[in-house]
This record gives sequence, structure tokens and C-alpha cells, in this order.
Amino acid sequence: MKIIETSEGAYQHALGRRARSVLVPTMGALHRGHQELIRVAREQARIGGEVAVSIFVNPLQFEPGSDFQKYPRPEREDEKVCREAGVDLLFRPRAEEMYFRDRSVYVEETSLSMGLCGASRPGHFRGVCTVVTKLFNLLMPKVAVFGEKDYQQLAIIRRMVRDLNFPVAIVGVPTVRDADGLALSSRNRYLSAEERAQATVLRHAALAAERLAQGGEISASKLIDMAKDVITSAGSARVDYVSLIDAETLEPLQTLRPKAVLALAVFIGGTRLIDNLRIA
Ligand code: PAF
Repeated sequence: MKIIETSEGAYQHALGRRARSVLVPTMGALHRGHQELIRVAREQARIGGEVAVSIFVNPLQFEPGSDFQKYPRPEREDEKVCREAGVDLLFRPRAEEMYFRDRSVYVEETSLSMGLCGASRPGHFRGVCTVVTKLFNLLMPKVAVFGEKDYQQLAIIRRMVRDLNFPVAIVGVPTVRDADGLALSSRNRYLSAEERAQATVLRHAALAAERLAQGGEISASKLIDMAKDVITSAGSARVDYVSLIDAETLEPLQTLRPKAVLALAVFIGGTRLIDNLRIA
């Protein structure tokens, strides 16, 4: 596995490469969810292709007062996960490599980013779009793979690629869960044992709303209230949002219709977790 730590190195590597390249952008603290992204990337790379993983805890997407400083950075373990998964290239730049002190250009999606996580995390998606653009420009992948757990992020990146004509195909990968249903996330590491037990409430809430929908309920507010009731029954859980949205436009729905997704963000103690479920 080749490891590159400078932007110039990444760029030179990409310029000299002939193989089809597939990128998995990550912020590290790799878990089974990332391993699944890497597996899909390998499939996408086809025979002789290159699987590249980037690990960069992107300061631009952490809003002030959030967990940028304490975000886990297990460098050695991450490197091992990549090696064992058969990754060809690990791009691991330092912040000074990625951002000029006097930077003044950002990439901003202005519609899909407004609601859901964008409403509670101002500037977050601007940070995501800016860093993903930079990674695409440096590493020039043909394909990039993202998890569906970050549902809004995936929709925004697809829109960015469409609107700005990036020559990159975006592939979404279904969420990987623990046996009890909790979606895998690097932030699960913050949970105490008690909080970890309560964190399954996101999945239970989404499934309860789905059951209600399967029973014939089509009112979005009733489905949302059901999910919220389940969440508040867990001791330290606090709802950030629960929303029923269109799978593509992310517009909030008043009534259930095909391609509806229940999206939710919940604080378990001080940790904010997200999940989503296609319920129609
Ligand atoms: O999903 C993530 O881990 C990050 O938001 C991403 C896409 C790597 C950009 O920093």
C-alpha cells in the first residue's frame, strides 16, 4: 500500500496513473462500515484498478464548539485496516497540506443543504463540498463511494457532481449496522456503555414509524410523532430532528408517498447520531 501525505504527491500520483481509480473519502476511525465502502470500491475498480482511501479530519466541516479536537484519530489502526482491506493508496494529508491560511474559495450547495443536518450544523455541508472537491481534484478518481447513513451528504454530493460536471461517478452504499440495529459511526466511540445501549433508539424509532406506515398511516406528522415518542422513552436521548422527506429532493413530505425516507438526528447524552430509513 502506497501512503501519500502531501497534496502535491497525491496530484503527481494521479497524473501518472493509468489504472481506473476509485476513491473512498473518510475522516478515519475506520470501522466495518468503511470496510464495506472499501469492498464496494474494489468491485468498482475492476481488475487492475486502484482503490484509494483518503483520511482527513476536515476542520471546515466542524462547526464552532463541535467535536473537531476530540474526533478520534487512530492513525496506526486505520493504516492497518486499509492494508488488510487491500487498499492500494492511502492519502493522509495534514490540515496545512489541504488549506491555505488565506483561502477564500468554498463550494456551497444552496438548496438540499438548508434543512435537516444543515439547519443544526451551519457551514457543515459547505465544508464537506469544499473538501470533496479538493479530493476529487487532487486524486482524480473515476468513481467515489459514500455511505447512505449520511443520507443528506450523499444527496448533496450527487447534486454537486451533477451541477458542476465533475467527471466522477458517485456510488452509495447501504448502511452497515451492529447486530442490535445501531448504524456504525465513528462517533459511536464517544458513547458510554449505558448510552450505547440507548443508542438503538434511533433504529427502533425508524422501525416503529415504518410499522405504522405499513399499517396504513400516511400522515407524516403521525409517523414523526411515533418516532419521537420512541426516542424520548430512552433516558438520555434528545431529538434534534425527525423528518419525513422525499428520497431525492429531500423536501419534507406532509403525507407518505413512494420514495419517502424517515431521517433522524438524536443526541444520546452529548453525542449526536443520525440514521435514516426508506419507509415507502
Ligand atoms: O462522511 C465523511 O466521513 C466526511 O464527511 C467526508 C465525506 C469524508 C468529507 O470530509
